[in-house]
Amino acid sequence: MKQTFLAFIMLAFLFTSCQNAEENTGNETVDSLKQMDQNLLVKAQKLFKVLPEVFEKEGNPITEAKVKLGKMLYFDTRLSKDKTQSCNTCHDLATFGVDNLPTSPSDNGGLGTRNSPTVFNAAIHASQFWDGREPDVEAQAGGPVLNPVEMAMPDEASVLKRLSAVEGYVALFAEAFPEEEKSLTYENLKNAIGAFERTLMTTYRFDQYLNGDATALNEQALRNIEKTQPYFHDGSVTDLKEAI
Ligand code: HEC
Repeated sequence: MKQTFLAFIMLAFLFTSCQNAEENTGNETVDSLKQMDQNLLVKAQKLFKVLPEVFEKEGNPITEAKVKLGKMLYFDTRLSKDKTQSCNTCHDLATFGVDNLPTSPSDNGGLGTRNSPTVFNAAIHASQFWDGREPDVEAQAGGPVLNPVEMAMPDEASVLKRLSAVEGYVALFAEAFPEEEKSLTYENLKNAIGAFERTLMTTYRFDQYLNGDATALNEQALRNIEKTQPYFHDGSVTDLKEAI
């Protein structure tokens, strides 16, 4: 008797869920879903801004020649003492700008004490390094080359000496900084690497979505935004609805 009763309940449940499925195919439901997605887009636009394609710094305009030079330097192992490491060793652009290691080995084989953060979108951070000790990517770029647990070059002069011995670099620095008489300087090494890093932005589908293209994201991604619980540094907002 008990079993028959249970079976009846299950049948009744199945029947009602089939009915609901039928209703869901109606135009009304499609329209209301569209409206919900539209509302979601408006909410998301209030919370997030589209990433810029490049993020220029006043005083260090981004030019093609500078980015080309910065990219060469970024991948060049000659910037490290034993020529074993480039910026890309610890911030591999093929693996989202990180090396996937707890801490990174240095040019001289020892281990650093901190995890290497990604260089993607680093240019728009309010400051650089985990402790924020440098203001921007230009200022930051000079550090690792001379850091004993990173690229371990003894001083700026030896870096410049090494680069000046490469004919291609002399020409590339001159092209990147045409207005300067002496273009191959440590300051310009930082400016060129910084300019290249300012092009490392992850502008993608979410940005197209924020730009108003509601079809840029698939259903699963849309539902994930719905579940997003943004928080700010003071921990004040924990719910999407509260944030608006
Ligand atoms: C040996 C590994 C290693 C090398 C080589 C290296 N870095 Fe780093 N990088 C790190 C580590 C570790 C940190 C974090 C250190 C800290 O916070 O004190 C870091 C931090 C950074 C940051 C800060 C990002 C943020 O979100 O705060 C940027 C930008 C960066 N490196 C760019 C570069 C550039 C450009 C070069 C080449 C000139 C370079 N790195 C070479 C390991 C490395």
